[in-house]
Amino acid sequence: MTDKPVGVGIIGVGGIALEHMKALRASSQLRLIGVTDMDIGRASEVAHLERCESYPDVADMLAAEEVEAVIVCTPNFSHAELGRQVLEADKHLLMEKPLAMHAADAAQLAEMAAQRGLALAVGHSHRFSDQGIAISEVIESGAIGTPRFVRIVMNGGWIWPGWQAWVLNPEASGGHSLHNGVHLSDLASWWIGEPAESVFSVGQKATSAALGIYDYLVMELSFPSGATAVCEVSRGERPRGASFLEMTVVGSEGVLSREWDANGLLMWNEAGIEAPAPDGTGLRVFVRELESFAAAVRGQGQVTPPVSAAVHAVQVAEASERSLALGQTVRITDISKKDASATGEQA
Ligand SMILES: NC(=O)c1ccc[n+]([C@@H]2O[C@H](COP(=O)([O-])OP(=O)(O)OC[C@H]3O[C@@H](n4cnc5c(N)ncnc54)[C@H](O)[C@@H]3O)[C@@H](O)[C@H]2O)c1
Repeated sequence: MTDKPVGVGIIGVGGIALEHMKALRASSQLRLIGVTDMDIGRASEVAHLERCESYPDVADMLAAEEVEAVIVCTPNFSHAELGRQVLEADKHLLMEKPLAMHAADAAQLAEMAAQRGLALAVGHSHRFSDQGIAISEVIESGAIGTPRFVRIVMNGGWIWPGWQAWVLNPEASGGHSLHNGVHLSDLASWWIGEPAESVFSVGQKATSAALGIYDYLVMELSFPSGATAVCEVSRGERPRGASFLEMTVVGSEGVLSREWDANGLLMWNEAGIEAPAPDGTGLRVFVRELESFAAAVRGQGQVTPPVSAAVHAVQVAEASERSLALGQTVRITDISKKDASATGEQA
């Protein structure tokens, strides 16, 4: 046991890495040792600003003894390979969500981390939001009884500007089910208290019919207990600054609800938005996420969410994309069996 800050390296210093770096500055439990990016100029610039090392490539970062843990902040399609490299180098890993593009890769990373005794956390950041934690605590208290229905709406303004080209390419992002859908399905499974067993999804190409992904997506999840969840996620709203966050949990004894205008949001238009930003999206979300990871690295706690939940989120997303393609309900267990057989494992 040591109180020394966990030495951290970051791979990929694009949009979300900036949030992690802000959080690292705000926490005494971790210390940024260095960064690397395939855009070497960007890595040098960030390293200069953060007063840390700039490694020419991933191998150099992984060879650095001071780097005990790595945060991977690269596009989704690179997660499986980079994750394997980090774990093979015996470094703890905080993988940005999703854990991998495919459930078989996600399960393999989970297995590798377990075998090597390494902490493997996945950036399901909504688990650390004020409302996410508060809803979980009320459910745990028993005040609303057994949850039987969850509805989550996370709708944001137009994908342009903001989304990188790789997000719009389903081969690179895994589609919207994987890119953002994992946040919602993970919250639903967490609050309901069990993994989902099937999913039916519908989508729209709201911003443009030419999109390769569904920027508006609804996933209906069914759970073994009979509970259900509706997860609506969009980046196709107008005006561009739009941001809805709505959460409802109906239990056997009561209802929990966070209305979209919980902060007094009554009207919006192109001229502006008359409400504060949705709660829970600020710096403290990432500080909590990183400090929870640091505690797991130091053997003082478990990662949040458990790795099995992060693997499940990928399974749900794969099943959801399949449901979109087939227009029918897809059983999530069937997907994991398919993945397992693809890698020669026993289902
Ligand atoms: N938790 C959240 O709420 C949240 C929010 C946004 C993004 N994300 C996740 O974070 C990840 C990154 O998203 P982003 O929006 O920051 O992407 P981005 O495109 O802004 O940045 C990615 C960076 O990674 C670099 N990169 C790409 N491949 C690399 C490789 N093989 N080696 C080294 N560097 C590489 C790119 O040059 C770029 O600087 C994605 O997995 C995304 O799903 C999570």
